[in-house]
Amino acid sequence: MTRTIPNFARNSLLRSVGSKRRLERDDLVRLLAADSPEDTEAIRSCAYAIKLAEIGPNVYLRGLIEVSNICAKNCGYCGIRKDNRKIRRFQLTRDEIVEAAMLAHHNRYGSIVLQAGERQDESFVAFIESTIREIRFRTHGHLGITLSLGEQSNEAYARWRDAGAHRYLLRIETSSERLYRQLHPVDHRFGERLRCLGALRNLGYQVGTGVLIGLPSQTVEDLADDLLFFREHDVDMIGMGPYVVHAETPLGAVAANTASARHERLQRALRMISVARILLRDVNIASTTALQALDPNGRELGLLAGANVMMPNVSASEHRAEYALYEGKPGVLDTPDDARRAMETWTSKTGERIAYGEWGDSPHARQRLGT
Ligand code: 5AD
Ligand code: SF4
Repeated sequence: MTRTIPNFARNSLLRSVGSKRRLERDDLVRLLAADSPEDTEAIRSCAYAIKLAEIGPNVYLRGLIEVSNICAKNCGYCGIRKDNRKIRRFQLTRDEIVEAAMLAHHNRYGSIVLQAGERQDESFVAFIESTIREIRFRTHGHLGITLSLGEQSNEAYARWRDAGAHRYLLRIETSSERLYRQLHPVDHRFGERLRCLGALRNLGYQVGTGVLIGLPSQTVEDLADDLLFFREHDVDMIGMGPYVVHAETPLGAVAANTASARHERLQRALRMISVARILLRDVNIASTTALQALDPNGRELGLLAGANVMMPNVSASEHRAEYALYEGKPGVLDTPDDARRAMETWTSKTGERIAYGEWGDSPHARQRLGT
């Protein structure tokens, strides 16, 4: 398969960038900053063509299970941060999690993501470990299991890997240490995130990371550095989305939340998806729910921008509203049937197919791990 950018000879920006053997920071900045309608459409359709060439017209699914909104951390942007006393905290039981996993299994979603706020205590680690084992047992090992449970000790990661989880999502949130410090309290360390990403990779997980897009004071150069970070760390999957304001947070109290600020964040996030696809080619890229929080068609737009993964929520609806990382979380009242119908409509509109029953590993991960 050719590794060049498809020939978009009619667009001068893509022509000049496409002639490079390896994209550098300046090229990424130009692709991210271009704002004419012609460049915007050329970048999007180039990314989409690369997605079709590398992955085909397939959308992989991960049934998202929101395990708990209890979090020991205090990230400045997040609605479930420890200091937000205005939300009710919940923790699903093992039976509730297994039930949600079985729903995903019976719907042939192929794999699930267990996501929760961060807790590092032994009872939580053991609880997740036994839940993974139970899901593996009940689905005869057929359901792929991804974790998104934050920073943990090497030992916790190893126990969960042994129990049968094989993918892990840990967003770096921003590759800029300056921005990271602005967004987090002093005891949240950028270096610790890096330690975790390295440990996950050494343990043989497929590793995903991602960033928030459209943060106050974030520049296109910062975003270009985020993309270079993904390349340097040779990641298998990317889950990134627009920053969406949550009023009960320190950042939400000061960040712009006008219609134009929201529109700008959505457009930036879509552009990041496209440029990530052009740069990294064969990784999995999620069309995240935060896109949909800013536009009802956000996830469809994400697929058209070059994403290939969707994460329908399979948690019981009673706790969905309490797992509110940001305002305007979509799908809070959807039944699993609603969610499935909506996804099928979206994907068929874009001429793609949902890859039911497949784990949907990225070609990048399959090659890297020799599977
Ligand atoms: N807007 C968008 N995404 C957010 N997250 C947390 N708060 C917000 C917000 N206000 C994302 C973070 C985190 C993931 C679980 O949710 O990137 O890694
Ligand atoms: Fe907790 Fe994650 Fe929210 Fe930070 S982003 S407060 S670690 S749930």
